[in-house]
Amino acid sequence: MKRLKIGVIGAGSLSEAHFEAYKNNPNVELTAVCDLVEERAVAKAEKYKIANVYTDYREMVKNPELDAISVVTWNNTHKEISIAALDSGKHVLCEKPLCMNYEEALEIKAATERTDKQFMIGYVRRHASSIAILKEFIEKGSLGEIYYAKASNLRRLGNPGGWFSDKSRSGGGPLIDIGVHVLDLLWYLMGRPKVKTVSANTYSKLGNRTNIQTLSFYKAADYSPENNVEDLANALIRFQNGASLMVDVSFTLHAKQDQSSAVIFGDKGGAEIDPALVLVHEENNTILNSTPQIDHPGFNFSDGFQNEINHFVNCCLTGEQPIGGIDDGVEMMKILTAIYESAAKKQEIVFD
Ligand SMILES: NC(=O)c1ccc[n+]([C@@H]2O[C@H](COP(=O)([O-])OP(=O)(O)OC[C@H]3O[C@@H](n4cnc5c(N)ncnc54)[C@H](O)[C@@H]3O)[C@@H](O)[C@H]2O)c1
Repeated sequence: MKRLKIGVIGAGSLSEAHFEAYKNNPNVELTAVCDLVEERAVAKAEKYKIANVYTDYREMVKNPELDAISVVTWNNTHKEISIAALDSGKHVLCEKPLCMNYEEALEIKAATERTDKQFMIGYVRRHASSIAILKEFIEKGSLGEIYYAKASNLRRLGNPGGWFSDKSRSGGGPLIDIGVHVLDLLWYLMGRPKVKTVSANTYSKLGNRTNIQTLSFYKAADYSPENNVEDLANALIRFQNGASLMVDVSFTLHAKQDQSSAVIFGDKGGAEIDPALVLVHEENNTILNSTPQIDHPGFNFSDGFQNEINHFVNCCLTGEQPIGGIDDGVEMMKILTAIYESAAKKQEIVFD
């Protein structure tokens, strides 16, 4: 099989997950790296033996050797970089969130329509081994009709700072950063229903709490404490098929500890996804909780990234349809944009 020549744009904190997973894939040749900060790109080039280093992604996408690109930059650059890469004839794996808002999502969609290249969003949660197993149970009807889902991802202290907390570069706070993971995951498992209404709240009460020095957390490569994004967001989403989804996410909150839960409920069974996969159903007038015996019952970072990257590479090489293509990104950006709009207007947003 031909080796896929990959370039990674953005060599910050998360890029390591992309580099490592590409390195482990025998069908990949890591060929180029780009970062605004040259020494950061050079460090990755040295570590992963990458021949071409760039500080301007416009130059990198012109490299005729490259087949595909990972976009691992600030959210406000996802649109322009993805479009430039697609228009230069490259396959694209774009980190979540797809972009800043629904309008930008439609622009990326237009670019995907004028090329025959693959476009995939890095919804890593979908690629967890436990999710592949759960999806198969769902597709075989074990849960029946899924009519309710609920996710909570509450950090008591975890504003990554830097561009994450600068709305002009991130598009928002915990909702667009961590909320998108669980929202997308549950929406995917629910069968990707069309959104009907959104009612939401955001709060900016606590700031990023730099005064707390006793707990460590994930930080942007260029950490700074400035902050103008929400601390907390919650939302109730109703879908056209009658199903509903509730979510709450925070960067910081006066919570006893970090909390992470994700559950889906159908008329034949349910499933707890976070912290670990448990299937719930009824048999012989008894409720049974079943725990699948698998290597990674919860979300395992390297398992998820390796599966995601392997899937992307395979899609580029074989033409297989990616899990998490542009249409899914557009619908999720519609939901996220509506959540922020509902919170700002303090009213429900209704779609036709
Ligand atoms: N899938 C996940 O679990 C996950 C986790 C963390 C971050 N992310 C996403 O990954 C992306 C990057 O996050 P991060 O934590 O690595 O941030 P980061 O700040 O640590 O790194 C981003 C890097 O991008 C570079 N950059 C920004 N604009 C650029 C441009 N125009 N050209 C070249 N380089 C540019 C910066 O210099 C920086 O080195 C974000 O979209 C974020 O939402 C995803």
